[in-house]
Amino acid sequence: MPFPIQRMRRLRATEATRDLVRETRLSPSQFILPLFVCPGEGVRREISSMPGNYQLSIDKLVLECAEVQSLGIGGVILFGLPETKDETASGGYADDGIVQRAVRALKRELPRLLVITDVCNCEYTSHGHCGKVVDGDVDNDQTLVWLTRSAVSHARAGADIVAPSDMMDGRVGAIRAALDQHGFPNTPILSYAAKFASVFYGPFRDAADSAPQFGDRRSYQMDPANGREAMREIELDLEEGADMIMIKPALPYLDLISKARQRFDAPIAAYQVSGEFSMIVAAARNGWIDQERAMMETLTSIRRAGAGVILTYFAKAAAKLL
Ligand code: PBG
Repeated sequence: MPFPIQRMRRLRATEATRDLVRETRLSPSQFILPLFVCPGEGVRREISSMPGNYQLSIDKLVLECAEVQSLGIGGVILFGLPETKDETASGGYADDGIVQRAVRALKRELPRLLVITDVCNCEYTSHGHCGKVVDGDVDNDQTLVWLTRSAVSHARAGADIVAPSDMMDGRVGAIRAALDQHGFPNTPILSYAAKFASVFYGPFRDAADSAPQFGDRRSYQMDPANGREAMREIELDLEEGADMIMIKPALPYLDLISKARQRFDAPIAAYQVSGEFSMIVAAARNGWIDQERAMMETLTSIRRAGAGVILTYFAKAAAKLL
């Protein structure tokens, strides 16, 4: 019974029917806001390539998170800017490291806020790579030692979920074993399972001061051309004990979010990364697109593709609209 019996426009005629048949809805509780914590007091330094995002000292971070919680946002993920960087990323796994201190402060002041920590070394190494450099390349197995120490120190500080983003092989299994051994069998792991070597991380590396000083990350992050390999990465991380998996970036990889949703029953997160955010803001500032509509359309698309959780720098702005 095609046209004229079927008229698809009937249900599009009013906001009431559009709302009634809408297939995909966003909720602030599914957003995670990434935040950057830095040393000092009273610091709230705007990141020039990410307007509206700040490097925050712990006191300002707590204030920001109070607002996040009042907006009903699902939680935050923390990235740290240490006082000093070194060859061994020691600031990443120090019990009094910047993220560890931030987690303790948040758990003291806002005990109900969900706090996820990013587990990686690139913010803490002097060379900016995500692991221990041996003979010009990142050594996988030696890097696992730093990662397990970081994850355990985050859990000890009170992190609700740890999220390894380094893309070393075997890190989920190693972190799971270390957490269990140190008395944290109930701390979940959100693995950045399919993380691509993407140009869209550019603004983040300004924000976290984590750009590699030589070479690039293509020997550990994935080739953007490889979708089947992404499914293998997810499968391996689930076998190693990941509780949730992430695909990153989001918009250029919607096909993989959708495929993963069909193949795996674990919760799936997607990270709308810094470059995805900044492109929208930059175009809007030029008067070329409407920022609010671009924000809602991209978030809805990521959700429609199958991500139940979205890490996004738009979390506050979108939550205010919903
Ligand atoms: C750390 C890390 C990065 C991002 C999240 N965790 C940067 C990178 O891999 O270079 C990027 C997030 C963003 O661009 O918003 N490894």
